[in-house]
Amino acid sequence: MAGPLPLGDPAPSDGRLPADLPIDASVPFSAYLHIPFCRVRCGYCDFNTYTSGELRGARQEDYADTLAAEITLAKRVLSDAGALRPMDTVFFGGGTPTLLPAGDLARMMAVAVDAFGLTDGAEVTVEANPDTVTPQVALTLADAGVTRLSIGMQSAVPHVLAALDRTHRPENVRTAVDAAKDAGLAVSVDVIYGAPGESLADWEASLDAALALDSDHISHTPSSSRTARSLPVRSAAVRCRGRMMTYRPTCTSLPMRGWQQRASNGTS
Ligand SMILES: C[S@@+](CC[C@H](N)C(=O)[O-])C[C@H]1O[C@@H](n2cnc3c(N)ncnc32)[C@H](O)[C@@H]1O
Ligand code: SF4
Repeated sequence: MAGPLPLGDPAPSDGRLPADLPIDASVPFSAYLHIPFCRVRCGYCDFNTYTSGELRGARQEDYADTLAAEITLAKRVLSDAGALRPMDTVFFGGGTPTLLPAGDLARMMAVAVDAFGLTDGAEVTVEANPDTVTPQVALTLADAGVTRLSIGMQSAVPHVLAALDRTHRPENVRTAVDAAKDAGLAVSVDVIYGAPGESLADWEASLDAALALDSDHISHTPSSSRTARSLPVRSAAVRCRGRMMTYRPTCTSLPMRGWQQRASNGTS
């Protein structure tokens, strides 16, 4: 069940930016487009997302038009503030963007590019649940200008996936990765460690499976589940002291296989 809205100042009805906001035109401009729909909610997830039973009359099929109107508003507000410039990165996050038809995502992308423009070589990412990526979806996204797919793998171990409330079919991770690669997209996979009941052997198995996908990037994050503290996270972290306080298998396996660590920027 989605939580209540956070407290704060009401947004101005015309969407204007605060008058004293410093505007620096040399700062790269990134657009984040939020798609707040999921088929099933995973117990660990804090993102603002709604299952079909929680929409209270709102319709997923109207969302592309709603977001297009928001982009038009953002263009006017940025233009009035003298801050309009092309996008350096675009990130479709969620929720599960690929729960919408790929054509809807393509339309939102076209509206955003029309409003702001896009710099050469811009990275355009779409987050995806493994069950929702077919070769046709990947091709439609690539045609729309998407350059990268970020796929929610989480684990390769069935009891860990179950503990995380994941319902995707593990074999669909490989299918989704291959579809994305065949469409010419870069691929990132998300894995979570420290789920209730996960052993170090389980994590190593998931890490091996993620590495075997031969993606361009792996995003590994600790489970924020309240029960995660009962897991062997602490002992693993101690053995790893001085090497980024992360799971031992991660900090030994990845560099050994030629992978480099990169600081998180908050998106996967
Ligand atoms: C918005 S989801 C992306 C795609 C899709 N909805 C899915 O889950 O397959 C982004 C990623 O955030 C990560 N995530 C979400 N909540 C998290 C949490 N509480 N702790 C760790 N990772 C989390 C998951 O790895 C997930 O793949
Ligand atoms: S499918 Fe992704 S966005 Fe949806 S609840 Fe699960 S982790 Fe969160």
